[in-house]
Amino acid sequence: MTIAFMWAEAQDHLIGDRGQLPWHLPADLQHFKKTTLNQIVVMGRKTYAGMGKPLPQRTNIVLSRQADYSVVPGVLLLHNIDDVLAYAAAHPEQETIIIGGAAIFALFKDHVDRLYVTEIDAHFTGDTVMPALDWSAFKQVAFQVGVVDANNHYPYSFATYQRLAK
Ligand SMILES: NC(=O)c1ccc[n+]([C@@H]2O[C@H](COP(=O)([O-])OP(=O)(O)OC[C@H]3O[C@@H](n4cnc5c(N)ncnc54)[C@H](OP(=O)(O)O)[C@@H]3O)[C@@H](O)[C@H]2O)c1
Repeated sequence: MTIAFMWAEAQDHLIGDRGQLPWHLPADLQHFKKTTLNQIVVMGRKTYAGMGKPLPQRTNIVLSRQADYSVVPGVLLLHNIDDVLAYAAAHPEQETIIIGGAAIFALFKDHVDRLYVTEIDAHFTGDTVMPALDWSAFKQVAFQVGVVDANNHYPYSFATYQRLAK
């Protein structure tokens, strides 16, 4: 099984503001869709609530400590990390992609094998930052500079990192 993280961060590791993304960058949403389609996406309850609906054509797992938290049919509500790891192990043909937010990235940081990160070289204000990762345990395996155009106003890049053999 592969556990991956996928996130976008701006300067100062900012990832969120009041339950939403601080920026509008459609090219990153397309990249996110392409990478996560048909895979398992795992998100915290706050990120799920911020999206308002599950991501289509993906297995959506929401983590919450609330036993009775209500999700729409088809979404899998789990309550602890071990249940997510067991689900991932039972579905090794799919990548299990942790899509945030900060609380959920922190929870899985010792389990993650692959990192898909979009770096946005711009400053935004917000309230949520990416937790620190042990970058010395990873090597970069892909890098692509993003195209700045009329719809995508900020310089950005897509990178992929793979965990080095332990
Ligand atoms: N830029 C990006 O790539 C990106 C990606 C994702 C999210 N975001 C942003 O990040 C922000 C949200 O992040 P966040 O850290 O505040 O919230 P979050 O990680 O989305 O959700 C936190 C919630 O997850 C549940 N949870 C946390 N640890 C748990 C555990 N050990 N077991 C079971 N459930 C657990 C709890 O839900 P309950 O309170 O229900 O128990 C907790 O309140 C938003 O602004 C969002 O837009 C950005």
